Amino acid sequence: MLKLQDISVTFNEGTPDEKKALKNIQLELKQGEFVTVIGSNGAGKSTLMNIISGVLVPDVGDVYIADKQVVHLPEYKRSKYIGRVFQDPMAGTAPSMTIEENLAMAYSRNKKRKLKLGVTKQRKKLFKEYLETLNLGLENRLTAKVGLLSGGERQALSLLMSTFTEPNILLLDEHTAALDPSRAELITNLTDQIVKDSGLTTLMITHNMQQALDLGSRLIMMDKGQIIFDVSGKEKEKLTVEDLMREFQRIRGEQFGSDRAILS
Ligand SMILES: Nc1ncnc2c1ncn2[C@@H]1O[C@H](COP(=O)(O)OP(=O)(O)OP(=O)(O)O)[C@@H](O)[C@H]1O
Ligand SMILES: [Mg+2]
Repeated sequence: MLKLQDISVTFNEGTPDEKKALKNIQLELKQGEFVTVIGSNGAGKSTLMNIISGVLVPDVGDVYIADKQVVHLPEYKRSKYIGRVFQDPMAGTAPSMTIEENLAMAYSRNKKRKLKLGVTKQRKKLFKEYLETLNLGLENRLTAKVGLLSGGERQALSLLMSTFTEPNILLLDEHTAALDPSRAELITNLTDQIVKDSGLTTLMITHNMQQALDLGSRLIMMDKGQIIFDVSGKEKEKLTVEDLMREFQRIRGEQFGSDRAILS
């Protein structure tokens, strides 16, 4: 469903601020795979998502979505393939519009539907049904302005809207990080439910290692612009947070060792 081939990204090339954010990334995701992504600050996780969604064009490398080369497609042309939820609850929705208007906008974006805006009676019913699945009572607040919703309610709505377009890939960039623990847990459970029900191919960045272990079928760890660990299936199920920490130390330690060997 997704293939990244030899992706490299350098910011501010040739200046003292030069930063190699991604180094020769190879990544293939099968249809329906749910991958959690962990890694320290600045590891390149968000940059990876920006490459997939077309916010950034890599210096070199190819991006394939469902076997279609999209590396030169701008973000707006890729949006029908991609659903995305950001860390900031303000980012995914239009605050001055009502819940039903936001939903109508997302709904009309579906590649298979004719572009038709507005909230019809039939759609109202449909939106209510969708909102009921969130269990937040939002189905009774269709005409409330989204700007009045709490962060958690907004993220739930963003999540729902991001799947409306029936995208090929769902990208979640720390979408629970700005919420309090109980709201974060609610959105986490909702994510699990939505991804399982829809069978969407999903990449989810999280700083919570336990969450990265609990969710999904595969886990990748990034560091300094590289994927340094990639585990799935039964092997992933067995892992603990301690294992992950140890793995990180082992890989980085070895790398440090070999760098030193080359230098000496
Ligand atoms: N537009 C940009 N211009 C210059 N440097 C950038 C830009 N975007 C990202 N970087 C740099 O590239 C590196 C990777 O950034 P990225 O945002 O991908 O990290 P991240 O893994 O998402 O980190 P975090 O966990 O803090 O969100 C960082 O050093 C960052 O400062
Ligand atoms: Mg980030």
